[in-house]
Amino acid sequence: MAGCGSWVFFLTVCAVSLFGANAEIKFTIPVGKFFTYELMRETFQSDFEPSSLYRRLQDDPMTFKCNRQKYPDLPEWLRFTQRHPYDNGFLYGTPTSPGKSIIEVYAINKRSYETARQIFVIKIVAEKMLPYQAEFFIKLREIEKVLPSSVQDEIKQDLQKLWDTQALEIVNITNALDRGGRVPLPLAGHFEGVYVKVGSEQYFSDCLLRVLTPEYQRQCTAGAKVKVPGGCNFCSIPSNCITWCKTELFDLTKQEPTPPAPTVGSGILEAGGDFDPPESPPSRDYFPDYIVTVIVPLILAIILCLLLAYIMYGRREGVTKRNARTNQIQLYHHHTIHGNTDELRNMAGNRGVPPPLSTLPMFNSRTGETAPPLQSDSPSIPLIMAQHDPYSDTLPRK
Ligand SMILES: *[C@@H]1O[C@H](CO)[C@@H](O)[C@H](O)[C@H]1NC(C)=O
Repeated sequence: MAGCGSWVFFLTVCAVSLFGANAEIKFTIPVGKFFTYELMRETFQSDFEPSSLYRRLQDDPMTFKCNRQKYPDLPEWLRFTQRHPYDNGFLYGTPTSPGKSIIEVYAINKRSYETARQIFVIKIVAEKMLPYQAEFFIKLREIEKVLPSSVQDEIKQDLQKLWDTQALEIVNITNALDRGGRVPLPLAGHFEGVYVKVGSEQYFSDCLLRVLTPEYQRQCTAGAKVKVPGGCNFCSIPSNCITWCKTELFDLTKQEPTPPAPTVGSGILEAGGDFDPPESPPSRDYFPDYIVTVIVPLILAIILCLLLAYIMYGRREGVTKRNARTNQIQLYHHHTIHGNTDELRNMAGNRGVPPPLSTLPMFNSRTGETAPPLQSDSPSIPLIMAQHDPYSDTLPRK
């Protein structure tokens, strides 16, 4: 009974509707047993081309997108894998708690970009875990190659011989890459590897109990290639052979009971006296600091202002008063300097100005015209003619 594919035994397909994109497929599976479902490309191909049901179906590349209905991801226990768009996909995993999951699967046709949808209703019922479990590592396998039920049966048959019982169930199959394995080189003879966990009601066989011996520990920690001991090697297909040193046994009957849950308090702290705030630091007198940083610079600034104001305005005398006190010839000299400066400034400003007055000859050599007679009160009066100057009385005399 258990030998003829026990996953098929536990898995009850209640309703399969081949026609219509919203086909709902129902399963009832127990907790702690391995579940696989192969997403067949042919099934979806007929969804894409309903008219060609009786003709030869095309073989389109397809990818699948699986998620829990109204959620972005699959449930925690369920995984999906598909190696290549020309391969079938697999949903697999081991449920750990009872419940119900509705899984949506979208198939995307990579040739026409059509999509088709299927709904899976997976009901998980509670069941006792198998008390004795063992995990084996199969080095020369990849997860997709192990998931088809025929291969699972081959592997199980070998392990049944090793365990020496027919009552054996596959509990879990995992890709070694999901457990920290490395992606292999893309060469022939390199595989990702899979872990297969099986469980039984029957206690471990003598062969399996060798895993617990000190000899096994010693050989395997040495790192040498350890073969399955003679009389325990039941592997009929080379690619299904287990790696002896990665075998692990789990005796769930010996597991210590889970520690009691912590007691939950009322959520209110016990009374512990009044709150005593820390002493505030002693008060400090900031007045001297204020004097030094604000008042002193302010007083200095006011003094400087007053001093500057006195120099600028308090000691000024009027221009007329100063002119009256100035020697006349000095004043005249001063005016000529000013006049000459202005003249030079004008000449520097633009070209083509008349030549400066000081370059003019006293008379025009061509016309013989003499310069106009000098006005005695003109400011251009030469200093040598000072005796006719009405201001001459202010000139210094010997
Ligand atoms: C199956 O294996 C996966 C990956 O190691 C792990 O996350 C999961 O808990 C396992 N399930 C059971 C029931 O042991």
